[in-house]
Amino acid sequence: MVGRVAGKKAFITGGAQGLGAAAAHKLASEGAKVALADVNLPGAQAVATAINDAHGAGTAFAYALDVTSEPQWKDALAKADADMGGISVLVNNAGISRGGDIENLSLEDWKLVMSVNVDSVFLGTKHALPYLRKNQPGSIINTSSIAGLIAAHNSPVYNASKAAVWLLSKGIALHCAKKKMDVRSNSIHPTFIDTPILNPLRQAFGKEEAEAKLARQIPLGRIGEPDDVANAILYLASDESKFVTGAELKIDGGISAM
Ligand SMILES: NC(=O)c1ccc[n+]([C@@H]2O[C@H](COP(=O)([O-])OP(=O)(O)OC[C@H]3O[C@@H](n4cnc5c(N)ncnc54)[C@H](O)[C@@H]3O)[C@@H](O)[C@H]2O)c1
Repeated sequence: MVGRVAGKKAFITGGAQGLGAAAAHKLASEGAKVALADVNLPGAQAVATAINDAHGAGTAFAYALDVTSEPQWKDALAKADADMGGISVLVNNAGISRGGDIENLSLEDWKLVMSVNVDSVFLGTKHALPYLRKNQPGSIINTSSIAGLIAAHNSPVYNASKAAVWLLSKGIALHCAKKKMDVRSNSIHPTFIDTPILNPLRQAFGKEEAEAKLARQIPLGRIGEPDDVANAILYLASDESKFVTGAELKIDGGISAM
């Protein structure tokens, strides 16, 4: 088996589209087995089929998972462990956004976003750690956002949820180190990346104007591609990052350097 993550077994949430799907394709192309877990099971199955067509049957698997549900986490992880012969990488990628400034955001939307973006990392890490412990070296990669490090006037719950993911990742890193587990935990912080998550903005302003508006905020002058994030996940999943834990990796075209 060859590849930068040959022999790794990665469990990826939100794998039906966008960054999760891109990460799954990338990891599989570098020798990993991948488990795609999503509320959108047909979408996850379609990505798994495409990966198996490209890299051979038994490379990718798909599972129904609502990342806010503890019983569903236990079930999906147990199935993935059996199908892949272990789990050594956890990518907590599933996430959502809801607009509304602090005066207009509903409590319902606050709870929904906090649950999908933060409960998910807590539950996933808690229940994946026994598997990662058995398959060391392990790696946990939590998808925060540049919005977890830089606030905006109109995204309080997205900012708060992604900031929570940022520091939670560090706490997990220290816990694993203290317990003498060779399991690393890091967060990634993309800025605007070309995925369906940007569709509400595209619908509001039109595709070209929406993307131009976003690109104007980024020193490199463009929004990112899913592969820009998949390459960061590949590095953190691989043993190339074996001394990197509790770190945050910004993939932001320079936006946070300003
Ligand atoms: N694309 C960006 O601009 C960008 C920038 C920074 C951070 N992020 C973060 O990256 C991650 C992936 O974003 P994306 O752009 O691929 O978004 P996306 O909307 O394209 O994909 C998100 C996936 O998560 C799944 N999902 C949603 N709720 C779920 C739940 N409760 N349980 C399981 N799966 C669920 C969806 O079905 C979908 O497949 C998110 O955490 C997002 O906040 C994205």
